[in-house]
Amino acid sequence: MTTMNAKISVIGAGNVGAEVARRIVEKELADVVLVDIIEGIPQGKALDMLQAGPIVGYNSIITGTNDFAEIKDSQVVVVTAGLARKPGMSRDDLLQKNAAIVTSVVENIKKYAPDSIILTVTNPLDTMTYLAWKVSGFAPNRILGMAPLLDLARMSAFIAMELNVPVTEVKSMVLGTHGDLMVPVPSQTTVSGKPISELISKDKIDKIVDRTRDGGAEIVGYLKTGSAYYAPSAAAAYMVEAILKDKKEIISASVYANGEYGLKNLYIGLPAKIGEKGVENIVEIKLTIEEKRALQKSAEAIRENNGKIIQ
Ligand code: LAC
Repeated sequence: MTTMNAKISVIGAGNVGAEVARRIVEKELADVVLVDIIEGIPQGKALDMLQAGPIVGYNSIITGTNDFAEIKDSQVVVVTAGLARKPGMSRDDLLQKNAAIVTSVVENIKKYAPDSIILTVTNPLDTMTYLAWKVSGFAPNRILGMAPLLDLARMSAFIAMELNVPVTEVKSMVLGTHGDLMVPVPSQTTVSGKPISELISKDKIDKIVDRTRDGGAEIVGYLKTGSAYYAPSAAAAYMVEAILKDKKEIISASVYANGEYGLKNLYIGLPAKIGEKGVENIVEIKLTIEEKRALQKSAEAIRENNGKIIQ
C-alpha cells in the first residue's frame, strides 16, 4: 500500500536538525528529507533513523542528501543550518556567518520548494527569519521562526521546579527577541489558571525571568561544544505539526509584525495563530506598561541587527 505522505525538509543535519527530523518521523507527521552540505552526514543519520522504524514502529520515510533539488514539493522547510554558539559567544556573534549560510539556503528553497512554508531555527533567530523573508520574497505569513515556544517552555520548566507542580499545569508567555532582550511575560503566566504573582514571590519571579533569558547560555555553559537541541527540536517539531494539521493553535513565534503591538516591518516573538498557511494572524494580548516598554526595546535590538545585514 502506498499513500502520498506529507513531505518536510530539514536543512542542517547537526544536533538540532537531526532531532527535528527524528521527532517528525517518529510521530509519522511526514516523510523527511534531511539536507546538509557535509557529505555523508545527512545520508548516514537518515539511514540510521530509517532503520529505527521497524523497532519503534513508524513507516515514515527519511532520506539524507547533499542535493537541494530533493526538497521539491516540501510543505515545510525547517532551516537549522548555521553555526551554534560556543561558550562566551552571544547569539549576535553568529550574525554575519549565519547570514551567509541562511541566504544560500533560502535561495535554494526559493528555487526548489517555492510553495513551502519556511520555519527558521538558526540564530540570531529574529534577524535570520527577517533575512529568510527578504531573500525568499515569500509572503510574510509563509515565514516564521521557532524560539519563543522554546523560551516559554524553559520558563514553564523553571516554574514547575520552583513550585513542584506538573509542568503541564504551567502556561508561560515569552515575547520579543530570542536574545538578551527577550521579554518573559509573568503577567500572562499561570499555574492551573492562577497568576504566578499569587504563587511565587516577586523576587523569585525575577530570578526565573533572568534564568529564562539566559536559558540557552546555561546549556551552552554545560555542553561547552555546542548549544541546546532537545527542547529546540521539540519546539520546531511542534510548530511543524501545527502547520501540517492546520491546527490554528496560538503559538508564540517569531512573526512579521505589521502594526500589531505598535511594531512594524520586523520579525519578532509574538503570539500567533499557526495553521496550514503558516501565520494566520497575530494575537494582541494586554501587556503591562513595563512589558510594552521591554517589547519596544527588544524590537530596537532586532532592528539594529537587521540593519547590519540588510541595507
Ligand atoms: C538556545 C540557543 C540555541 O536558546 O539559542 O538554546
